[in-house]
Amino acid sequence: MSPQRQGQRPGRAADLEAVLGLWGEEVVRGLRDATPPEPVVQRLAEGFDWEARSRVIEDRDGLRAAVLVMEHPSPEGTVARVETAARDQAARLDLLRWGVALSRAAGAAVAQVWQPRGTGGMEDLGPAIARPFWRMDHPDPARVPEVALPPGYRLAPNPDRRVAVLAFNRAFSGHWRFQPLDPGSPPMRPADLDLLAVARDGSAAAVVWCQVERHQPDLRPQPVGLVEAVGTVPEHRRRGLAYALTAEGVRRLLRRGARSVSLYVDGLNPDRAYDVYGRLGFRVAFEYEVFEVQLRRGYWPSGKVIS
Ligand SMILES: CC(C)(COP(=O)(O)OP(=O)(O)OC[C@H]1O[C@@H](n2cnc3c(N)ncnc32)[C@H](O)[C@@H]1OP(=O)(O)O)[C@@H](O)C(=O)NCCC(=O)NCCS
Repeated sequence: MSPQRQGQRPGRAADLEAVLGLWGEEVVRGLRDATPPEPVVQRLAEGFDWEARSRVIEDRDGLRAAVLVMEHPSPEGTVARVETAARDQAARLDLLRWGVALSRAAGAAVAQVWQPRGTGGMEDLGPAIARPFWRMDHPDPARVPEVALPPGYRLAPNPDRRVAVLAFNRAFSGHWRFQPLDPGSPPMRPADLDLLAVARDGSAAAVVWCQVERHQPDLRPQPVGLVEAVGTVPEHRRRGLAYALTAEGVRRLLRRGARSVSLYVDGLNPDRAYDVYGRLGFRVAFEYEVFEVQLRRGYWPSGKVIS
């Protein structure tokens, strides 16, 4: 691990306000697509080990840079996401180096760094570009067409959370870095933003989950309607379910007061989900490059192992 630099110290929960301020500056400078939504901020306030998992750099004007290392499990091992907020690239790279080293020491299988497209300096750290990841926005969501579900399908009036989660897990099982959700977990969103299409025999065919969020500062009209998840179980694909359900999700978001609508998609999505969104009028509004460092051998043959 790199030696502690001058002005560098472990973060603490009381730094959260200043870190959010740095993230807000990055949004305005086009280095980040959005500040985190409220539930993420809450987790950082209450459930994050700042002492062990963060470092900050400060000068007499306050916080200049910060790094937070967050983890989530995946079938291939723990994925550590190294998040930075920084006023200058040198401080960012310094802290990224620390975050990748911590990820390795903590036993993660891979460390991930998300940077806006074209950000320089990452090569020195070792991470290889894994893929582009896009935020797509709709320029005029009120114009999203009303689309009937394909024949033989209907919307479940009161979707059972368990059934919907199992359908989601089936739809996403081959998705990059997917971690199945617990079917027993509590509902996360208002019932009308949890869409489930069922087939004639009642079996779950496709889900679309949406949420209304506020971000500040942000370049989009607030609140933002987010289409969080779109998934069709394999045997019901290529019949127009995702297209119709996403269109319905957008309409419901507008009814709930959303003044802009966005979604995120893996730029290498093997099912070309971005084409479905493109046909509905969504356009790429922000492009991340996701860099990855493979920290343990045997997971991704194409990954780069740093020892
Ligand atoms: C991406 C995904 C949601 C698409 O679901 P889907 O219900 O098959 O989507 P649709 O049927 O609306 O559209 C898919 C394709 O089928 C075509 N299609 C639609 N109806 C059709 C029909 N009756 N006959 C033939 N093709 C048809 C569409 O034109 C579209 O083609 P395109 O890819 O060239 O645009 C699905 O493949 C999936 O769940 N993948 C895994 C999870 C995932 O990646 N989700 C997106 C994360 S952002």
